[in-house]
Amino acid sequence: MNLKFAIALSGRGSNMLALHDVIAAMPDKASCVCVIADKDCLGLQKAKELGLDAHHVSYKELGKDAAEAQIIACLQEHQIDFLLLAGFMRILSPTFVDAFPQKIINIHPSLLPKYKGVGTHRRALDAGDTHHGATVHFVTAELDDGPILSQAAIPIQPDDTEDTLAARLLPAEHWLYQTVVNALITGDLAEENGTYQWKTAPHCELSDVIVTDCPIDR
Ligand code: GAR
Repeated sequence: MNLKFAIALSGRGSNMLALHDVIAAMPDKASCVCVIADKDCLGLQKAKELGLDAHHVSYKELGKDAAEAQIIACLQEHQIDFLLLAGFMRILSPTFVDAFPQKIINIHPSLLPKYKGVGTHRRALDAGDTHHGATVHFVTAELDDGPILSQAAIPIQPDDTEDTLAARLLPAEHWLYQTVVNALITGDLAEENGTYQWKTAPHCELSDVIVTDCPIDR
């Protein structure tokens, strides 16, 4: 079976590149059938440079309803198995989410359920948290709220700023998202009785990163 992935993004595209690496490494098992950007961003350019079928769907020109309709049509045409949100900064409507149940996956830069929405690094620092992290989860109609597939946590250093924390988290994000997608491709993370289960728990080789397949309590 060849799993078909689509990727949606809005920014520099570093998670898209990490996802592309893992998908392209198993061409007989998976492919990235399209990349969608809601604006003309660096990530869109990078996807084109990789030779991916990359589209700009302008929310600004089309408005949300028409833009979503175009994306849904594209995903249905490609018969995607999963849509991977990689820094896609639009909230999907319930109509969109309902069209792809258990098929839309997101990475969010916080240890959900903490810090849904934006400004997650600042909020973790302001709260005096000892750890910060990222979550890969299924998307539901509620913002940053669907079932969690895996999380990675890193310690917050006393001298951390928003920028240093974001920069130290990014490699863990890439690793985490790659691990989840790799597991979907290999079958290590598979649906059983309606929910996705890990066959073997994910573990991380990066120093100072804690990874788990259930929510981290911090
Ligand atoms: C990443 O940090 C990702 O977790 C975040 O946007 C960044 C995209 O960076 N996503 C969200 O905040 C979604 N709510 P990238 O374009 O380099 O992958």
